Amino acid sequence: MTSILQCPVCRGPLLETPSGYQCAALHCFDAARQGYVNLVLAHNKHSKEPGDDPEMVISRRRFLELGYYNRISDGINEGVASVLAGLARDSECSVLDAGCGEGFYLARLKEAMAHGSGPQLVMEYHGVDVSKFAVRFATQRDRSMGWFVASINDLPYLDASLDIVLNVFSPANIPEFARILKRSGSLIFVSPGPKHLNGLREIIYPVTREHAPPAITEKAEALFAPATVARITYPLALESNQEIMDLLAMTPYYWNIDRATKGKVAALDRLELDVDVEIRVFKKKSGDEAGKPITR
Ligand SMILES: C[S@@+](CC[C@H](N)C(=O)[O-])C[C@H]1O[C@@H](n2cnc3c(N)ncnc32)[C@H](O)[C@@H]1O
Ligand SMILES: [Zn+2]
Repeated sequence: MTSILQCPVCRGPLLETPSGYQCAALHCFDAARQGYVNLVLAHNKHSKEPGDDPEMVISRRRFLELGYYNRISDGINEGVASVLAGLARDSECSVLDAGCGEGFYLARLKEAMAHGSGPQLVMEYHGVDVSKFAVRFATQRDRSMGWFVASINDLPYLDASLDIVLNVFSPANIPEFARILKRSGSLIFVSPGPKHLNGLREIIYPVTREHAPPAITEKAEALFAPATVARITYPLALESNQEIMDLLAMTPYYWNIDRATKGKVAALDRLELDVDVEIRVFKKKSGDEAGKPITR
């Protein structure tokens, strides 16, 4: 496959070198020893260590490895399979997980694609997250994928270079996703459903309201057409304090709740809750449908 990466300095194509990546204007980005490449420019960093911190990444890895979210991952893989259905054997397909965290969903997607019943495609997998700790953990899963530290607000990909963008429980930048997707590309957007984490939320909030529907469909309207929505709901019982605290560290509640409420959660050894997740597939509109050209 030709390079799909874009130099964050001059926006030209980035080509792989023995030590990392380089563009024609000689901007160089060395690969870290762990196998990822940091493409965040120092002056674009809004905090010293943006994104999830090491403690959150370790909690996420420990929790996801228990398999409690495998059904969400299976649902995402089905969404990808539906997008790719009908492609001829050996077709090339590039997938980016934008806000990939420690790489759980992308690694399971690769596994499913390798063992699935669909046609064997030439897949290229990329994961991007602004947290270098998360990306460092992600490289441990599979060093053959492209792992990059970068922001979803300035993705290091050329215009119209990707077939699928995944965005799972992470910040989204719709115009940027539209820019990097090919004309017929798909966005797979995963967000909490109305009852997600009820059980935990009842402990945190005196009155539990349902999650509002995500604003994504409205926000994406100009650039994407909604294709499918799948909802995955099931009950979950966490059996130890460690599991409960790890789940808490994966949620925004971790930062938002006061010490007393955190203490209430920390006192639990068992917790029953709902998993409720929505997986939306959007098709990129062509320039004509979108009404205007897609620019950064
Ligand atoms: C709730 S976690 C989800 C991670 C992963 N998709 C998962 O579900 O396991 C949100 C992720 O978004 C990342 N993140 C936050 N702001 C970001 C940005 N501007 N660009 C890229 N990633 C960002 C965080 O570092 C974190 O890994
Ligand atoms: Zn350059």
